[in-house]
Amino acid sequence: MAIASVKTIIHVAGARPNYMKVAPVIEALRPVAGIRQLLVNTGQHYDESMAGSFFKELDLPRPDRDLGVGSGTHAVQTAKVMMAFEEVCLAEKPDLVVVVGDVNSTMAASLVAAKLVIPLAHVEAGLRSRDRYMPEEVNRIVTDRLADLLLTPSRDADDNLLAEGTPPEKIHLVGNVMIDTLRRHLRLATLDRVRDRVAVEDKRFAVLTLHRPSNVDNRETFGDILAAVRRVASEMPVVFPVHPRTRNRLAEFGLQPALDGVILTEPLGYIDFLSLTSHARLVLTDSGGLQEESTALGIPCLTLRENTERPVTVTHGTNRVVGVQTADIVSGFEQALATKWEGKIPELWDGQTGPRIARVFEEFLRS
Ligand code: UD1
Repeated sequence: MAIASVKTIIHVAGARPNYMKVAPVIEALRPVAGIRQLLVNTGQHYDESMAGSFFKELDLPRPDRDLGVGSGTHAVQTAKVMMAFEEVCLAEKPDLVVVVGDVNSTMAASLVAAKLVIPLAHVEAGLRSRDRYMPEEVNRIVTDRLADLLLTPSRDADDNLLAEGTPPEKIHLVGNVMIDTLRRHLRLATLDRVRDRVAVEDKRFAVLTLHRPSNVDNRETFGDILAAVRRVASEMPVVFPVHPRTRNRLAEFGLQPALDGVILTEPLGYIDFLSLTSHARLVLTDSGGLQEESTALGIPCLTLRENTERPVTVTHGTNRVVGVQTADIVSGFEQALATKWEGKIPELWDGQTGPRIARVFEEFLRS
């Protein structure tokens, strides 16, 4: 059924982990009559390898507005997004603002929408690490508190929201939208794609990613993690696409020699990276998204953090939270090699989350 008058939805994306969450939602809403979709790119990430390549690979439309905010302290980055996004909202008068994930752009756009009393939807609502040292945790709490529609990836997220007093009618369990993107691109993700940069054999190598400030901004913690990585690299090739923050810290702390024997690359595009993770023997990471992707792929994952906001990847999937001490990481690695970690795909991580979200939005805009 069509919506009576044309309604405008503004999607906000700004940093690398946002693009694969926005794409399936835009795609699912495309055929819906009476909806005008606009994409705003905040520019929190701006390198070709961190942003531009994702637009091309994921078939995202060219952004209607580029806010160009760039890097900065949390306050500066948040404020710049708010100032620029407020102008967009005043000009476009959207009927719904959609934010995804937990980056600074997510929270900044949410504050703007809430202050202008524009309905706000949060995709990937309800995740909690209960660790306020993690800037994303603050972003999640604020965004969820302000959102009118909370689209959750798993039941634990619903439970978190209900425990915080969110009215149940605002919560919609829709599954994990990122898995839509993963399933769609998996058949393109072959090792041949990356062979010019990384010569590894199927299931005989590990993939490492590190970028959390709590890990890489502290020399001692970073060094402890790299000591464990060297041990892993003595058993199998380790491929490490290096995030810009991490590259800067490696240089600042003089830690490059600690990576002798590790295969370093620039940050990879979405499909190239999926080529590596889907063929890896195991993954070591402090990323949130990669914990989920490895669970969807059934690949063992060692999470190099003290906590996770994605517990379903541990209770159902192939993820183990091993912390950041050298001995604990090495012991997790040995267990992963010695035993087969069976996981199952969590409920509704089925590639159909985009269409479920589109139905929630349609219903909301029609009412
Ligand atoms: C941000 C998100 C984090 C997400 C991560 C994925 C917040 C609070 N953090 O962290 O949740 O997991 O993105 O990558 O929103 N830089 C570049 N080029 C770029 C982007 C960044 O060189 O395109 C460098 C800059 O030196 C910058 C640093 O990386 O200062 C960190 O970038 P920033 O966006 O502040 O945080 P991330 O660590 O990327």
